[in-house]
Amino acid sequence: MVNYGVIGCGAVFENFQVKSLLKVRGLRLVAAADINGKRLKAIKQKYGIEKIFVDYHELLADKSIDVVMVNLPQHLHLRPVTNAAKAKKNVYVEKPIATTLKDAREIIKVCQKNKVKLCVGHQRRFINIEMKAKELINKGYLGKIFKLRVIACWYEPRENLLSKGWWYKKECGGGPLMRWGVHKTDTLRYLLEDEAIRVYAEQDTFLHKGKEITVEDNLVALIRFKKGTIAELEVSNSQQEAGMNRGETIEIWGDKGTLWYRPSTGEMELYSKIKGLSPKGFIKSKLIPDGKEFIRIQQKFINSIKRNKIPPVTGEDGYKALEMVVAAYKSAAEKKVITLPV
Ligand SMILES: NC(=O)c1ccc[n+]([C@@H]2O[C@H](COP(=O)([O-])OP(=O)(O)OC[C@H]3O[C@@H](n4cnc5c(N)ncnc54)[C@H](O)[C@@H]3O)[C@@H](O)[C@H]2O)c1
Repeated sequence: MVNYGVIGCGAVFENFQVKSLLKVRGLRLVAAADINGKRLKAIKQKYGIEKIFVDYHELLADKSIDVVMVNLPQHLHLRPVTNAAKAKKNVYVEKPIATTLKDAREIIKVCQKNKVKLCVGHQRRFINIEMKAKELINKGYLGKIFKLRVIACWYEPRENLLSKGWWYKKECGGGPLMRWGVHKTDTLRYLLEDEAIRVYAEQDTFLHKGKEITVEDNLVALIRFKKGTIAELEVSNSQQEAGMNRGETIEIWGDKGTLWYRPSTGEMELYSKIKGLSPKGFIKSKLIPDGKEFIRIQQKFINSIKRNKIPPVTGEDGYKALEMVVAAYKSAAEKKVITLPV
């Protein structure tokens, strides 16, 4: 059994992780820490978690814990990860790995130095439809990919935005690009198996204006990859017409085919010149999202720990996804093209 202790039991824990953690084979959720004692008591009762702590250092002192999952707001990841690594715990840190490249580098370094494994929470790689897309690319249906467009745009009501202390503040990485665009920069690397070399971005705050809101509500980035692919990334939390399902699409063009899909609904269309696909070279399908991506990433992570293998999403993966985000913000602020590495 691999014993898990969780630090931070807010939205991501309650809405996604806990139900998944309880289903992973060989994983036991033994402890949880959160500064919110009331929340802790409620989750202990609801999920039968043995040990709860309002001070996470007590969780780290527990010798039975093998993996620490860090779910604090993203600008606060460095300190608990550092302390967990020094306590010789393997670390699962939620995305983005950090909100600055400096913090991200320190996170990677401290985990290496203490010889503990580090996995970053880019679980979206393991959504069933994303895995299908990757499989189709790997089988060559698209040929050489030259262009890709990723859209992650929907509407967040202003009261939601203001309901969390860190969602509307630039210094906390509260903007849509840092909060969920970083999943998409990870998707780009994952699908293309390539690294970004140049980024140009424009951003603005059109709808969610207000002196307390210091983040963008729209950002569009153009990203050039080493092997030549041009990618377009759009994020928004103010597209009132979009809605969760319509606002998330991925389109990929290669010299042998085109793929279009929506991870949140499972709709997919594929055209390919490769023989055998269908008489017209076109298929339209729907793969019902099974919601098992959080289970898959944890299963892979504990397997990597048991077999001393590379974690499913490494610290370097987290760093590279963050680097595109940082480059896009820098580009928008300085109104110029940013060359990577930043
Ligand atoms: N992988 C995904 O799809 C996904 C989805 C949503 C959020 N996230 C990420 O998960 C992380 C957490 O997001 P969230 O929405 O759950 O945040 P949240 O604000 O809802 O929850 C954070 C929790 O941390 C607790 N906390 C804060 N400081 C603490 C401390 N020093 N010690 C112990 N507990 C402390 C808070 O009381 C709260 O319960 C972020 O990095 C976010 O980007 C990932």
